[in-house]
Amino acid sequence: MPTALITGATAGIGAAFVRRLASDGFDLVLVARDEKRLEETAEGLRAKYRVKAEVLSADLATDEGLAAVEDRVRTVDLLVNNAGFGHEGEFLKVPITDELRMLRVHCEAVLRLTYAALPGMIERARGGGVINVASVAAFFARGTYSASKAWVVSFSQGVMADLGNQSGNQGVHVMALCPGFVHTEFHERAGMDVSAIPGFLWLDGDRLVADGLRDFRRGAPVSVPGGQYKALVGLGRLIPARLAARVSSRAGRKYD
Ligand SMILES: NC(=O)c1ccc[n+]([C@@H]2O[C@H](COP(=O)([O-])OP(=O)(O)OC[C@H]3O[C@@H](n4cnc5c(N)ncnc54)[C@H](OP(=O)(O)O)[C@@H]3O)[C@@H](O)[C@H]2O)c1
Repeated sequence: MPTALITGATAGIGAAFVRRLASDGFDLVLVARDEKRLEETAEGLRAKYRVKAEVLSADLATDEGLAAVEDRVRTVDLLVNNAGFGHEGEFLKVPITDELRMLRVHCEAVLRLTYAALPGMIERARGGGVINVASVAAFFARGTYSASKAWVVSFSQGVMADLGNQSGNQGVHVMALCPGFVHTEFHERAGMDVSAIPGFLWLDGDRLVADGLRDFRRGAPVSVPGGQYKALVGLGRLIPARLAARVSSRAGRKYD
């Protein structure tokens, strides 16, 4: 059985990945901080899908947590770098320690786990690869969150280009997945008020994952699921960068 390691596996988009990959027959390694919740999730997966589900409790903002996941990821077939969080993104209103923690989880963890996972995937030559969960925010300048997700998109594209040029690579793929709004724990954890976000902008988590995996299997370097978000990202490229940054800095930035 192929094995997938998913970070942020206990909630929201990560949990949707876990359900879908379990139903596709993957054995799973579940990563998050809350060990009790990880155990409960793993138990449910074993009972429902008859797959192996391993628990790895780790804080990806710490060296110790990152090192533990680096060790485990070397032998998996699919890595989903999904763990992430939001906070009040307006610069100078966020403690610098929170900004740095965000860069660690969104960028350093993605870098180190991708670096640890790819050599084994290439050597085993069974396909698979890495899905890095970014955001449509990557395409609009809005605080450290957007900047970190822009890094994820650019990093994934760059690594994929390098892999494409590598003669030993047998179909190992790297893709950035860029979701729009999805109902998860993300907004509540960040203290964001999303009541004004119109219904048509909300994506279904299971559908997002299905679309993302379809794009991954087709070899897309970047996946932006949902027609509304493909249009938004296209529009963002047409308007001047300064205007787009000003609009995006104001839009939807409400915190409790
Ligand atoms: N929801 C959206 O609208 C949306 C839109 C665009 C992009 N995204 C991206 O999608 C990804 C998943 O977000 P979500 O909406 O599913 O959020 P969520 O429901 O809040 O789930 C976040 C998951 O990440 C884990 N996590 C958080 N910090 C961690 C850390 N330091 N170390 C290890 N695990 C950690 C959490 O578990 P523990 O707390 O137990 O660690 C949880 O399993 C994120 O990268 C986010 O930026 C979300």
